[in-house]
Amino acid sequence: MAAMDPKLRKEVLRKLHYGVYVLTAKKDEDYAGALVTWVSQASFEPPLVMLALRKDSKVYELVRETGRAAVHILAEGQKDLAADFFKATRVEGNTMNGHPFRLEEGLPILEEIPWYFRIEAREWAAGGDHGVLVAEVVAVGKNREAEASLCLRDTGWSYGG
Ligand SMILES: Cc1cc2nc3c(=O)[nH]c(=O)nc-3n(C[C@H](O)[C@H](O)[C@H](O)COP(=O)(O)O)c2cc1C
Repeated sequence: MAAMDPKLRKEVLRKLHYGVYVLTAKKDEDYAGALVTWVSQASFEPPLVMLALRKDSKVYELVRETGRAAVHILAEGQKDLAADFFKATRVEGNTMNGHPFRLEEGLPILEEIPWYFRIEAREWAAGGDHGVLVAEVVAVGKNREAEASLCLRDTGWSYGG
């Protein structure tokens, strides 16, 4: 098979559409919150989702250890909030990277983000530099009403290629 042209590979793979999410996890007093895009629903019954998590990230470590996480769906206009979750997680009082959270069944729920769901790990695929998790949605929640969710394309950022 001919080698792929790296420029074209990037161009083509970056045409995939993604949402923008903040994934949170907690083990004892250890917290992680990370911006992720590689998330999709993967079954109606049971309600499954798939996520790809960087193997060298804190959030990957905590989700592997606990098998649990919360996925927050950002609203349009929450790009600045999203940007606070590129970096290492810092918890002070009831804030994570400066944003208020409460605990729900032991998981941090970010209160400024309109929609969220909690997941439990069902299967891991080794994948490549990201581990691929198939997880069941065990609870859903809404902090407030909002119109549309944020798309990666609206942010001008890209992840993929
Ligand atoms: C636009 C964008 C999208 C990202 N999407 C993902 C993703 O889908 N999965 C992932 O593991 N990391 C993704 N990351 C990287 C994580 O945000 C980053 O690894 C994480 O914040 C590291 O934090 P941690 O080590 O404290 O968990 C993305 C980063 C950016 C800038």
